[in-house]
Amino acid sequence: MKKIALHKTDSQTLIDSSRLIYGCMRISGDNTQADKVKGKQAIEAALAAGYNHFDHADIYGGGQCESLFGELLKQTPSLRDNIIITSKAGIRRNPQHYDFSHDYLTQSVDNSLTRLNTDYLDLFLLHRPDYLFNAEQVADTFKQLKASGKVKHFGVSNFKPSQVTLLQSAMDEPLLVNQIEINIHNISSLLDGTLDQCQQLGITPIAWCPLGGVAYPAWGNTFTAADEKRISVEINRQAEKYQCQAWQVILAWLLKHPANISPIIGSTTPERIQAATESLTIEYSHQDWYHLLEARNGYPQP
Ligand SMILES: NC(=O)c1ccc[n+]([C@@H]2O[C@H](COP(=O)([O-])OP(=O)(O)OC[C@H]3O[C@@H](n4cnc5c(N)ncnc54)[C@H](OP(=O)(O)O)[C@@H]3O)[C@@H](O)[C@H]2O)c1
Repeated sequence: MKKIALHKTDSQTLIDSSRLIYGCMRISGDNTQADKVKGKQAIEAALAAGYNHFDHADIYGGGQCESLFGELLKQTPSLRDNIIITSKAGIRRNPQHYDFSHDYLTQSVDNSLTRLNTDYLDLFLLHRPDYLFNAEQVADTFKQLKASGKVKHFGVSNFKPSQVTLLQSAMDEPLLVNQIEINIHNISSLLDGTLDQCQQLGITPIAWCPLGGVAYPAWGNTFTAADEKRISVEINRQAEKYQCQAWQVILAWLLKHPANISPIIGSTTPERIQAATESLTIEYSHQDWYHLLEARNGYPQP
């Protein structure tokens, strides 16, 4: 699997991640024994296909996704040194609100480490922006987490550029990633400066639900039947041209962007986990990138 340097400078690369990241949000399914077996098989398929980066959050499966992954690490401790584990916190449940307070974030990291059976997270992300966050306090929490050895590097998720700028201004070390929804339906990161900022600051944009609007309806879908038809005609034309499956076209479309988008693959189907890697070898053209954008928008670029 192709690798991508998360924050590369002339002198160092902080993390060498597989270009596709495996998303663990669904690995525990409904927490039945059969679903857990399927989840473990999915992780094994991801490892076999060359994914070395696994995405978690404290809330996935109510903690069960991290626990399942932790079972695997307990069985095979040697795995830990060869993989990158990301986890996130910041969304509190019951009642639901966002919270970047020191106590909550540090407690959440401790809980994730216990569930995952590991001493450290390679990357810790703030899951969704807490509008009430104080950048200095968060930077201080990050400093303490780093000093304790529990977290190696930091990033954010679903942050707008101004929020990244604010947090980064209080930190001594670089934010490595911004994990955001990017797919054929949600292209706001193209338009609101998020991807430009990523390029400027060397932040890797990580795309969640990359297949939304193609393999399944995207969150908050606003496409009409006519939009879906137009997009599907263009994607199918391109799938024929590149001799690949329709959903692989959209991964190639994301991978083409110069910000070096890293899609997260969250399928629990081993064949799909493997087949997603084929998108990395598609020689996708500049012109087709615009053809698909125009099919999505329903009008030609001026
Ligand atoms: N930061 C955030 O706010 C945030 C939000 C959401 C997700 N995430 C991360 O992003 C990862 C991916 O998100 P996701 O799991 O929603 O999206 P996904 O990887 O696109 O998979 C979503 C669902 O679509 C199905 N699917 C996948 N590929 C398909 C295909 N080619 N054809 C038909 N169906 C397909 C999968 O079913 P099967 O399992 O049956 O294949 C799965 O249930 C998550 O695991 C999580 O790590 C982050």
